[in-house]
Amino acid sequence: MTATEIAKSAAALVHRGTTDVDAAASLDELDAVERDLLGKASPLNKLREAIKSVEPAGRAEAGKAVGAARAQLEAMVAARRDVLSADARAASLVRDRVDLTTGGRGYRRGHLHPVTRMWRDLEDVFVGMGYKVAEGPEVELDWYNFEALNFPPGHPARAMQDTLYVKLGRPEEVLLRTHTSPVQVRVMESQRPPIYMVMPGRTFRRDTLDARHSPVFHQIEGLAVDRDIKLGDLLGTIEMFIHALFGPDINARFLPSYFPFTEPSAEFAMTCVFCEGNGCTVCSGTGWVELGGCGMVDPNVFTAVGIDPEEYTGFAFGFGIDRLVQLLYGVDHVKNLWDGDVRFAAQF
Ligand code: DAH
Repeated sequence: MTATEIAKSAAALVHRGTTDVDAAASLDELDAVERDLLGKASPLNKLREAIKSVEPAGRAEAGKAVGAARAQLEAMVAARRDVLSADARAASLVRDRVDLTTGGRGYRRGHLHPVTRMWRDLEDVFVGMGYKVAEGPEVELDWYNFEALNFPPGHPARAMQDTLYVKLGRPEEVLLRTHTSPVQVRVMESQRPPIYMVMPGRTFRRDTLDARHSPVFHQIEGLAVDRDIKLGDLLGTIEMFIHALFGPDINARFLPSYFPFTEPSAEFAMTCVFCEGNGCTVCSGTGWVELGGCGMVDPNVFTAVGIDPEEYTGFAFGFGIDRLVQLLYGVDHVKNLWDGDVRFAAQF
């Protein structure tokens, strides 16, 4: 090739290069164009190698022409790169924009299980009446669960509380407590009157699961021991907590009953909250729903814990928390409370 031919070809390459560089629409495309125009395999590089074949007098001119073409192409690529990077930055600013004026998405908060809430509401009502809260062990000794509560061995009332025994100690010495009443004994053993205490907790019986029975359930126990505590104090206390929880139209009713650890004993019921006492399916037409048992602390229980029954009297009561929740919310089967389905719990 002659120097003139090389100069012409170089000019042609610059001309074509201008079109290609302008056509590159992204930084990636521009990189490819740059490789084609200026890379090892580019026509411009071939031209540079052709300089060797130019007769010596024309080599300088040919070399200058190729160098100038390369410089021009490089400058065009650089200028285009500036434009495209600015565009890319602007596009990413739009794409990644955070609108600080929109509201947050918010978290869905959970809430307490209805039985836990009832447990705490009951505690609150009694704390408001001057009571304290105590808890006792779920694995109990026969002494606390039965014997100190005036259920001597072989007492027929034991048979009403189908007991789960634990393989510990002597046979039938250690058990899962069948009620919260043993906490009464523990409290009276550890402190002297006056005592005003509520004792919520988990309880266990060898019951087969059905709509209203579960082998694991919850009770709350109450105990008041002081000088001159009378049956009227018990009746008034129960009526007061029922009013506090359910309002002034829901009353308490007492029917004589029997428990070994109270004398006299009663079962207590409250006005059915669904029919307000008129009778409906929930209360089997009676207008009342059974809550639990209560009575005046039996002198034998005081003697068992070393409190003088001549000096002190007291009352006690106990009832099921799950039962109450089931009733209030119309939970048809007790297993719904415990099988952990969040769709159930979310309804409350
Ligand atoms: N512990 C009894 C039960 O589970 C309920 C009960 C009755 C508790 C009378 C008491 C009471 O404190 O005085 O069946």
